[in-house]
Amino acid sequence: MSVERWRRAQQSEHQHPTHTSIGWTADEAAASYRENYGIDLDGFDGTFLVVGAGTGRVHALDIDGQAIGIDPLYQHFDEVPDSEASLATAAGEYIPLQDRCVDIAASHNVLDHVVNPLAVLNDIHRVLDEDGTFALMVNVFLLPAAVRRLLNSIDRPHPHHFAPDDVRNLLDEAGFKIVDETVEPLNPETKNAKMWIAINFARIRRIVIRAVPVPSE
Ligand SMILES: C[S@@+](CC[C@H](N)C(=O)[O-])C[C@H]1O[C@@H](n2cnc3c(N)ncnc32)[C@H](O)[C@@H]1O
Repeated sequence: MSVERWRRAQQSEHQHPTHTSIGWTADEAAASYRENYGIDLDGFDGTFLVVGAGTGRVHALDIDGQAIGIDPLYQHFDEVPDSEASLATAAGEYIPLQDRCVDIAASHNVLDHVVNPLAVLNDIHRVLDEDGTFALMVNVFLLPAAVRRLLNSIDRPHPHHFAPDDVRNLLDEAGFKIVDETVEPLNPETKNAKMWIAINFARIRRIVIRAVPVPSE
């Protein structure tokens, strides 16, 4: 995917209303990791990296260790109010951290926004400790490849429309093993008509995965 296409996607992303305020409390952030990924942050004192963190969970994380959030959009934020996390303007393809210094890495609703999804997963793999855990959530489409390719050009904020197998194959290629996975309806109770149509006609779901690095030989 071209960087020009990505820039257009980021312009839409920048204007999106969810990027104006933090939508999480500490309890909700902890519960989301516990319930979605089986990750208990009680007493966690390591390094927690969120890639494409936006105004999401990372700012609400209440952990004994260090929370780090990276996102290309941070260049446009003077500051993220009430964030305890260390923040850097950076792309997931080039994470500004040393090898194997992260204990938990997470990325929610980001992989379909990036220029090069495999490069992002490779770099998360590089910075993650060999005993580390990766929590990944991304929207997927239960649609034929030709329809998903069409969506890539007309759905401006999303340069990629993955099938569940695309995500599994990318993780495998980057050196991750999937430990837990669910494919679930996205926002099934929604009253929003656009979202309802997307879920039911575009067959949009979300895949929630906990993965670990495959041990090197
Ligand atoms: C839909 S938002 C999700 C934000 C946040 N993870 C959340 O759950 O609220 C997608 C985010 O991906 C970020 N993004 C786009 N391209 C990226 C890249 N190459 N590397 C890292 N993040 C990227 C965008 O800036 C945006 O903040």
